[in-house]
Amino acid sequence: MNKDIVCIGAGYIGGPTMAVIALKNPRRKVWVVDINAERIAAWNSDNLPVYEPGLAEIVKKVRGKNLFFSTDIEGCIRKCDIIFVGVNTPTKTFGRGAGRASDLQYWESSARTISAAANRDKIVVEKSTLPVRTAEAMEKVLKTHPEHKFTVLSNPEFLAEGTAIRDLLEPDRVLIGGPRTKEGDRAVKELAAIYGTWVPKEKIVTTNLWSAELTKLAANAMLAQRVSSVNALSALCEATGADITEVARVVGLDSRIGPKFLKAGPGFGGSCFKKDVLNLVYLCETYGLKEAADYWNQVVAMNEWQQERIVTRLLSETFHTVANKRVAVFGYAFKADTGDIRETPSRHVVGMLVEEHAKVVVTDPKALPNAERDLAAMPAGSVELEPCPYAAAKGADAIILMTDWKEYTELDWKKIRRLMRSPALVYDTRNCLDLAKLAKLGFKVLAVGR
Ligand code: UDX
Ligand code: ADP
Repeated sequence: MNKDIVCIGAGYIGGPTMAVIALKNPRRKVWVVDINAERIAAWNSDNLPVYEPGLAEIVKKVRGKNLFFSTDIEGCIRKCDIIFVGVNTPTKTFGRGAGRASDLQYWESSARTISAAANRDKIVVEKSTLPVRTAEAMEKVLKTHPEHKFTVLSNPEFLAEGTAIRDLLEPDRVLIGGPRTKEGDRAVKELAAIYGTWVPKEKIVTTNLWSAELTKLAANAMLAQRVSSVNALSALCEATGADITEVARVVGLDSRIGPKFLKAGPGFGGSCFKKDVLNLVYLCETYGLKEAADYWNQVVAMNEWQQERIVTRLLSETFHTVANKRVAVFGYAFKADTGDIRETPSRHVVGMLVEEHAKVVVTDPKALPNAERDLAAMPAGSVELEPCPYAAAKGADAIILMTDWKEYTELDWKKIRRLMRSPALVYDTRNCLDLAKLAKLGFKVLAVGR
């Protein structure tokens, strides 16, 4: 068995993960391949397709030494004995399970490519989030191969965007699921050795395949549920005069609960949470567990309601109309430190504002190119994109802060007050601004859960 690695899929997971594996395994060659030639070209340029703090530095160090980006998928599969699959598995938009189940077409097509290209036995490692028991399906596709054997492992990635490099360098755990057979054990050891070059042994956890696959869904569902829980409480705070930032801080001091993931906001976005919770819903339905399905469904429903609440409250503070008013949306990325806009709460809010005939201007330090593609279908002239937050604020009646970019806390708010039209409403949906200070500067302030 040679030591070289290929990852199919050069996305938010494949790119950063392979960069760190290459950095920590200098004696292995690591190839990242993709059907999207433009994406591969970007990975080979100074303008990486994924923004992640610390990523560019690592890529610069190892690219061309032992990290390579290529479109030669079959050639790389032949060269390497360990194949990671990190292709996208979005929620199905058509047919059975539409809106809940995962669309596995990209993933199945990579299984077929592996099978067609393979020249000897290989280990296949699934990295994409997949509904449980798909490793079995992967094995079925690969088993049709007349000569070669494939061992399929599940190695879910827990990195969060914006902190990907830190999460990869210092993971809470690395999870490897494998079949409980002799080949399975051997393959698990091979994969553990790759991570073992930098991750302490006790943090590398092995389970059976199905547990590993379900763990990824379970972890994301539990995190999403925490966000929906705190957002449900934020609604009650707004109605009663309690302050969610105070409530959450004190609740988090309970060591059984802990302080993380208790920030009320515009709701969760990103490529994983909604998709994974819906996957769980679909699994529960499939196994006839209606109450469990309803329970998890409500986590997603709660999330969407949060964005509706934000717009409803804005309207109630603006004489129930924003028609022809300039509303500046600060932040289109689904959270700070990423240019990713998948499932961003901003999209829903911008959509509702456009329906109300507001003149929307969107600004974001990293996500504007993605936002431009995303908002292309909006009615002509309804949304303006503006890289400079001051220019976005100029003449605005209201600012809705949607993404917790540090840049926004460091703005010259005095200057912004001068640029805006009275009553100069600032709606802090992330609770990251100093509201008392803003009120002193003459802004009318609103925040989620307060
Ligand atoms: C998540 C998981 O954290 C990660 O382990 C998994 O591999 C992929 O999904 P990610 O989507 O990148 O990662 O971001 P995360 O930091 O988890 O945030 C998800 C969403 O929840 C964001 O929109 C964020 O703003 C929101 N959030 C998070 C809150 O609203 N409040 C919080 O307290 C925490
Ligand atoms: P993730 O967030 O899971 O990394 P992305 O959408 O960022 O998801 O990345 C997935 C990548 O997988 C995309 O760049 C896409 O072009 C690539 N991809 C999808 N199907 C295939 C395939 N059959 N072969 C190679 N690459 C693929």
